[in-house]
Order: sequence, then C-alpha cells, then structure tokens
Amino acid sequence: MERLGVDIGGTGIKGGLVDLTDAELIGDRFRLLTPDPATPDACARVIREILDHFSWDGPTGIAVPGKIVDGVVRSAYNIDKSWLGVHAAEFFDDALGVQTTVINDADAAGLAEMRWGAGQGEDGLVILLTFGTGIGSAMFLSGRMIANTELGHLQLRGTDVENWASANAREDEDLTWDAWAERLTEYFEHLELLFSPSLYIIGGGVSKESDEFIPKIKTRAPIVPARFRNRAGIVGLAHATTLDGR
Ligand code: BGC
Repeated sequence: MERLGVDIGGTGIKGGLVDLTDAELIGDRFRLLTPDPATPDACARVIREILDHFSWDGPTGIAVPGKIVDGVVRSAYNIDKSWLGVHAAEFFDDALGVQTTVINDADAAGLAEMRWGAGQGEDGLVILLTFGTGIGSAMFLSGRMIANTELGHLQLRGTDVENWASANAREDEDLTWDAWAERLTEYFEHLELLFSPSLYIIGGGVSKESDEFIPKIKTRAPIVPARFRNRAGIVGLAHATTLDGR
C-alpha cells in the first residue's frame, strides 16, 4: 500500500511516497521552500506542486508544526498565525481535492518510530524530540500516543526551551557540539524530573549527526537516534492516513 506524506517545516515542505509494506520511501523526497508568510493558502499551493510532482491523488498525510486538537490548529509558533482555528484536514481536502489526514509534525515522526523504528516494542514512557527550527515532541505510554505534548515550550532560563536549545539556536549562535550538548543536558534533566521516561528518541534533521552530540548528553534513560532520521515524519504521516477515522 502506498501513501504520500508531506511535512510542513520551518524552512522546507517535504513530500515523499511511502510503501507501507516495508515502511520505506519509494524514490527520493521532493522538497520546496516553505512560503513566507506560511499561510494556509500559500502552503496549499506548494503542496499542490508536490502532489503534481508525484502524480498523486490518493490519501495524503500532512504534518503541521503546531498543535492539532480535534482537527483544529491550536498553536502556531513557526508558521503563520492565520493557521490558528483552522480545521486543517477539512481545509486541505477542499484546497487539494484529495483526502488528507493532518497531525503534528513530531507526533508523525513518533508514530513511525514506535511502529517500525527505535521505539518498537517499548512499553514504558517514550519521549521523541525533533530538533530543527523549533523543538517538537511526541510522547507514548505503553505504545499509545499522548498527542500534542509541545515540550519545546517548557520554560527554562526564562524562555521557551526551543529558543535556546533547538538546532536553529545552535546554528544561529554558532555553538560547538559540546556547548549545545550542555544545554541539552539541562533540558533533559528537566524532562527527567517531570516525566521519568524510559527512552528518548532524537529526530529532526540534526539526527543525521547524532554521534556528535548524543554521547555528550548525560541522562538516566537511554537516548537513541530515530531509525528513520529525518524521514520519520513522512513515514509516520503515511501510517497516520491508515489510522484516521475520518
Ligand atoms: C511547535 C510544535 C512543533 C515543533 C517542531 C514548535 O514550535 O509548537 O508544534 O512540533 O515546533 O516543528
């Protein structure tokens, strides 16, 4: 069974066709720049190009970098504020003429990792974090997702943690891996205090370079890179289309 996954990120909108029998991408991902401003209409125009690129008109999973509660976008830190209050799947169904399933981007990555990747068979509390423009989070207890956790917005040092510990913050401030890992250790200590997870999974673009920083983060629970690296979101979106009761 094939599905299309489209991940709306802070800088790029990436699409990929996924074969759900082996949870792998068919061919390459196709990436276009995120429009500025990233309004619903502007994002829909870019996704239209992605559908055309893959000649696809089947069920499509779309990730938005915001909370999606009962289908409605309820936070918009790294996309245009005009998303707030929009029923995302109904909007995309109409705008694109295909059946869409819309979930949070980190939740999408988590679904792939729990089903086929680093979290497979993990029974305890699993926290997946994606480091990119912001920090996304997905949380699973006994394999069940607790959606929309938004752990990138925990307050540390008087600000949202994603403002000083995201991959973007590392680049913007030119932090060495050591300096970034120190910030991450502080963040993970806070997470351990609050949640006592049994496993952390690191996703997002920077997970490709996980050897540079994961061994430097001191935690009680193990930390592993996402098996699907930055493809996790797209694979999870393909999976999400099969779970959608709409
Ligand atoms: C958003 C989250 C999103 C994360 C990663 C945060 O700023 O609030 O919903 O998952 O960025 O894109």
